[in-house]
Amino acid sequence: AAGRVIFSGIQPTGILHLGNYLGAISNWVKLQNEALPNDEILFTIVGWHALTLPQNPQQLSASRRDMLATLLAFGIDPKRSVVFYQEDNLCHVELSWILSCITPLGQLRRMTTWKSRLAAKRNANDESEVDESMLNAGLFTYPVLQAADILAYKATHVPVGEDQTQHVELTRDIADAFNRTFDPEKKFFPLPDVLITPNRRVRSLKDPSSKMSKSSPDSSSRIMLTDTFSQIDKKIRGAVTDSIQGITYDPVNRPGTSNLLSILSACEGVDVEEVARRYEGKGHGALKKDASEALEGLLKVPRAEFERLRLDQTYLNAVAKEGAAKAKERSQTTMERVRTMIGL
Ligand code: ADP
Ligand code: NA
Repeated sequence: AAGRVIFSGIQPTGILHLGNYLGAISNWVKLQNEALPNDEILFTIVGWHALTLPQNPQQLSASRRDMLATLLAFGIDPKRSVVFYQEDNLCHVELSWILSCITPLGQLRRMTTWKSRLAAKRNANDESEVDESMLNAGLFTYPVLQAADILAYKATHVPVGEDQTQHVELTRDIADAFNRTFDPEKKFFPLPDVLITPNRRVRSLKDPSSKMSKSSPDSSSRIMLTDTFSQIDKKIRGAVTDSIQGITYDPVNRPGTSNLLSILSACEGVDVEEVARRYEGKGHGALKKDASEALEGLLKVPRAEFERLRLDQTYLNAVAKEGAAKAKERSQTTMERVRTMIGL
């Protein structure tokens, strides 16, 4: 039987935080490690997508290398997965252009990612919302580039977070439009499915009502994957909890306490309710101490591997080059067929 083609991308945002690892990278590693022999897996670092927001070129260049080092250090194996920089395979932009010519503008306007850009305030003092003239065209069309990323490999399964599921639905619509327009058999591109991965939302250590994020100005609200044990320990000690006696898992009423329990549960790979039962008669001090130590256990080896890899540019370049060659090879036949089908 034909295997799945699993495809996902991540932006080169530099050093990742614990939320990125537990919410995204760890799911990729699990998918890779549990893949069947016929499955093909591709993970790409999407530099073109990063350009939709202002970037410092030196910083971007360093961030993409750090992202590759992170993926490798945390368990993505280039022997089992095709790991590459998006911008090394020009097919993505070629296909993106072709697909943009069969995508109705109205469909892009319906994307909640676009609507939330429009709904953003100009700045804290100004209540007026931004309008289209203030946003670049890439922010509007990048869901088509995402569709091209996926369809260039005829991907069947796309592991993404819930904020991206609408883009996979758009990809299905675009694939279907292409099939109906250009393929007499109407089945050239498979319609990809979102691969639902366990939702492990990590919360801010300082404001547990919101998620852990790189954009919070308070850096003690997040654990970075490069944090040393003493940095981890300090941040976990400073994590906001509550004054309720004892430990219970209750995300609605006790978000801070529950966040620490779910971090500990993720580190240990043990069900969170089971972890909570162990702390029934204990206090936050014990929970925090164990959470810090479990995080150190999780991060220690990959952190050292990351620090080693990011200095080994020769190796990183070799991995990227091999990944790009495999990615191009896998998209080549599809792109040749596409060109023929559209008459170019
Ligand atoms: P950030 O919110 O820090 O800007 P991104 O938007 O760059 O992070 O997200 C990159 C990936 O990490 C996405 O797959 C996203 O769903 C995941 N992710 C980000 N923050 C968290 C979090 N706090 N908990 C779980 N997953 C997260
Ligand atoms: Na974000």
